[in-house]
Amino acid sequence: MDRDNKMMIFCLFLAALSSPVVTAEWKADVIKQLEALVTSCVVVPCSFSHPGGPLPTSRLRGIWHLRSGKDQLIYHEDQTLILENFRGRTKLLGHLGQSNCTLEITKVRDHDNGPFCFRIELTNAAASDKFSFVEDCVDLKMLPEPPKPTLSHSVTATEGRPFTITCSVTHTCPSHAPRLKWSRADPDAVHEVHKKSRFGYWEAESILTITPEEKDDHTDITCTAEFNGGGESSALMTLYVKRSENYNHIIIPTVAVIGTAVIFAGCCIFMMKRYKNRIAELQNQEGTVWNRLSRLSRRRRT
Ligand SMILES: *[C@@H]1O[C@H](CO)[C@@H](O)[C@H](O)[C@H]1NC(C)=O
Repeated sequence: MDRDNKMMIFCLFLAALSSPVVTAEWKADVIKQLEALVTSCVVVPCSFSHPGGPLPTSRLRGIWHLRSGKDQLIYHEDQTLILENFRGRTKLLGHLGQSNCTLEITKVRDHDNGPFCFRIELTNAAASDKFSFVEDCVDLKMLPEPPKPTLSHSVTATEGRPFTITCSVTHTCPSHAPRLKWSRADPDAVHEVHKKSRFGYWEAESILTITPEEKDDHTDITCTAEFNGGGESSALMTLYVKRSENYNHIIIPTVAVIGTAVIFAGCCIFMMKRYKNRIAELQNQEGTVWNRLSRLSRRRRT
């Protein structure tokens, strides 16, 4: 192998090593807008990438600040650097080593609308490596009142048959999801599901199964959503119970009518037979009377 070839291989090796560094950019992916319920909590999804391949969390410093100023920190690992009204209320839920900068804000206040921006810093690195993603900030839309749950159910409730009702509510705090409670004291089963909705939004769902009885007709069922921080909202539905399908109400009168008809017909036939006999007897008697009369009249004429 001559010197030129060695040089070329070395260059290729260098290129292969440096290519991921060139392709990976400083980039953050922060949700642009998210609703936040006042008094509750909100989780802001965030991820980032940076040049130089994966780095351990200990070499990274994630910072959240107000867009109005890089020194107006709302999250920093050093609590003393955070603005006083955010101190103790912010937490990084994501692991920076996994390129996850997800932020949690608790006890949300009406003025927490942001915009909040994420910045990543490499510790023990040159100042040029520090980077701020000012163009990737989140705007929080404050909800003063908790959203109402929605109720959905199968078409009709039938007496004695399992009937399911689904209650669901949207929220933005998966770390402290709202709890759904039912007004029914005797459920057959309650099944809870927690699922992702659109990006940044979640849905808490509770599925209630009951076996309605006749006495449940026209009764109300309430589903209450209890949010972290004490907010509450509820939805109500009225239960209409269909009688179970037995045909007694048709069979009993039908049997009664047919029975009466049979008895009546029997009586008629019996009576008719008796009357026929009687008529025949009468006709015979009539005959004898006539005979007698005619004999009498003949006697008179003679
Ligand atoms: C980031 O971290 C949060 C909180 O632990 C987690 O819910 C989310 O799934 C993570 N995101 C990604 C992309 O891994």
